[in-house]
Amino acid sequence: MDILGIETSCDETAAAVVRDGRKVLSSVVYTQIPLHKPYGGVVPELASRAHIEKIREVVREALDRAGTKIDAVAVTYGPGLAPALIVGLNAAKGIAMALDVPLICINHLEAHLHTPFLDTEGEIPEPALGLVVSGGHTNWVYMPKYGVYETIGQTLDDAAGEAFDKAAKLLGLGYPGGPIIDKIAKTYEGKDYIPFPKGRPREGVSALCGLEASLCVSFSGLKTALLRYVQQNGGTAKLAEDGEIPRIVASYQEAIVGALADRTATALSRHAAKALVVGGGVSLNGRLRLALKETCDKAKVPLYTAKPCYCGDNGAMIAALAYFRRNVSGAEALKADVHPSLEVGE
Ligand SMILES: Nc1ncnc2c1ncn2[C@@H]1O[C@H](COP(=O)(O)OP(=O)(O)OP(=O)(O)O)[C@@H](O)[C@H]1O
Ligand SMILES: [Mg+2]
Repeated sequence: MDILGIETSCDETAAAVVRDGRKVLSSVVYTQIPLHKPYGGVVPELASRAHIEKIREVVREALDRAGTKIDAVAVTYGPGLAPALIVGLNAAKGIAMALDVPLICINHLEAHLHTPFLDTEGEIPEPALGLVVSGGHTNWVYMPKYGVYETIGQTLDDAAGEAFDKAAKLLGLGYPGGPIIDKIAKTYEGKDYIPFPKGRPREGVSALCGLEASLCVSFSGLKTALLRYVQQNGGTAKLAEDGEIPRIVASYQEAIVGALADRTATALSRHAAKALVVGGGVSLNGRLRLALKETCDKAKVPLYTAKPCYCGDNGAMIAALAYFRRNVSGAEALKADVHPSLEVGE
């Protein structure tokens, strides 16, 4: 079964064709990063207009490269920016109607958790622990069976990607911050890390989300600690002049990675998972991959991460998950609307 997947939830216009939920026949991603760069973040109105301009070309290219007959159309319907999601959903409805094939609406976060299985063969492990680390989300998800999702932990404020992006903005390093910090942190060879807070909320059940605080993270204190450090040490320009930026970003990255690895270890100790499955743009981070590998080795479970080209937003993950979700679609889906605040498992 060959499915066309369309993704426009944020700042990537993407389309792909995937066979039987695993084999990627084509994947086209047009990124709007240069468009949003001057603003240091995604501007929804601009994102929506750029999706409208590009969607036709991106879908055309994905179909041409795959060169196959399409059996269904899948599309992200949430979570994401409403004006951006609408573009993809409407395009998908039109294509599904024109081709007279089913339309399948897909949860973007659940799709991120499928990315490690793209272009692979073999059994998908279950039960598994999922970790979504992206620009807008940080979620630990227990999956007793493939396709069943129970959120067991999350961030109480900023997502990990957001924490990277905000720090880079504060230090005047550019946008998006994650890859820039990852690269600069590698140039710091010392181990004299600044002791930034590790984002551990108080024990008990979090009043903010109703989940166990020991499985949650909070990055707002870390952000403030960075701001204070910069202010107390003469400001960004002085720190850059003194060659201090690599040590600062390496320390900041260590705090985020440490928090993510620590909560993952706790989650693995409490849930009988046969694997850790990681998805989302932040999973490109070299230091995080290393720390999660160590965590998994200790817990004696394999780590599943995606190929770099599938970590950020893409259409392949949408088309792939749709193959396993095709029972929840059909003609009714043509009436579907976007769900900007959709949660995992909803
Ligand atoms: N090497 C890296 N290290 C750390 N963070 C990274 C790296 N590469 C990308 N990121 C971060 O990943 C985020 C983008 O990931 P992604 O595209 O999955 O998020 P999103 O789709 O915007 O959010 P969501 O999936 O929650 O809607 C950005 O915050 C970016 O800074
Ligand atoms: Mg995403």
